[in-house]
Amino acid sequence: MFLSAPAIPILSRCSWMGKGSGFGKVILFGEHFVVHGVAGIVSAIDSTTDAEVKKTGEEILIVDERKGAKGYVGEKKAQQLESIDRMLKAMGIEPKIASFNIWVGGNLPGFSGLGASAASSVAIARAIAEEFGLKLSDERVNEVAYEAEKAYAGTPSGIDNTAATYGGLMWFKRNMSGGSNAIERISIRKPVEIVIASTGIVANTKAMVEGVAERKKKNPEKYNGIFKQAEDVALKAKKALKEFDLKKVGTLMNENHRLLQEIGVSCKELDYLVDLARRRGAFGAKLTGGGGGGCMFALTPTKALQETVAEAIEKAGYEVLRTKIGVEKL
Ligand code: PMV
Repeated sequence: MFLSAPAIPILSRCSWMGKGSGFGKVILFGEHFVVHGVAGIVSAIDSTTDAEVKKTGEEILIVDERKGAKGYVGEKKAQQLESIDRMLKAMGIEPKIASFNIWVGGNLPGFSGLGASAASSVAIARAIAEEFGLKLSDERVNEVAYEAEKAYAGTPSGIDNTAATYGGLMWFKRNMSGGSNAIERISIRKPVEIVIASTGIVANTKAMVEGVAERKKKNPEKYNGIFKQAEDVALKAKKALKEFDLKKVGTLMNENHRLLQEIGVSCKELDYLVDLARRRGAFGAKLTGGGGGGCMFALTPTKALQETVAEAIEKAGYEVLRTKIGVEKL
């Protein structure tokens, strides 16, 4: 039985036991397409969701102190409860003995599109495991978080929980037959500055993913063509990243955004922010994650360009995050 608590913690955090963290992420290439087996590229960012868990002998109580878009925590509550239920089952913990307090926080804002759900699932899975004395390898944490992600994304590709578990920059291709996904680390010369901007709109990833699947079913010819182009963009982007050809990476990001518009997952706020970032000199800009609101990001190599783009977006009234892609470890 779950209870959720207001944002004020009723227990002192220093007395909490199991702890865990999960990385936030941006999808550089291939969101939505990855769900259907097209390759994608993802990078963890230097912000995490953190969780602490303490056994209590009463019901499950959640204190969620994540900051972010207005209404984010409330709107995700039902999915969060389902995700914890799924996680417990995947970890083999009997619901009867599952009585604990969970604190969720960290510096990753609750903006849709940054993998905040996957980051919190990884953090909570690690914290529960520690509190219950279970030794979970990263591979197991990733599997448990994938089960939890089903509550938020319906049929997730697995890209978010993989980035949230391992961090870094990687190539990802879902195995559509249920076997292991193809995951390959991509090394770049040095981390690159980006600007993430939030539309302030809390999006429902599950609904967005279902919408794409429905439209693809209705119009297979058009969608197969777009999906083929998305695979081609991801392949070219992998090469450009390895060669550290950032102008090319930016151009391919723009191309990817156009394909996302074509499958109906952008919105006027995302298009406005993408356009604004490009006009201020970003090498490229695109939505990231499920779309329909949530976030976009702009490739802004150098601190100066990052600042110019970030300031322009802030001036237009939107919240930004200045961060980097390609950071190996925090
Ligand atoms: O909106 P987010 O951060 O949950 O990202 C979703 C990414 C999708 O490709 C749309 C779904 C998935 O499972 O890959």
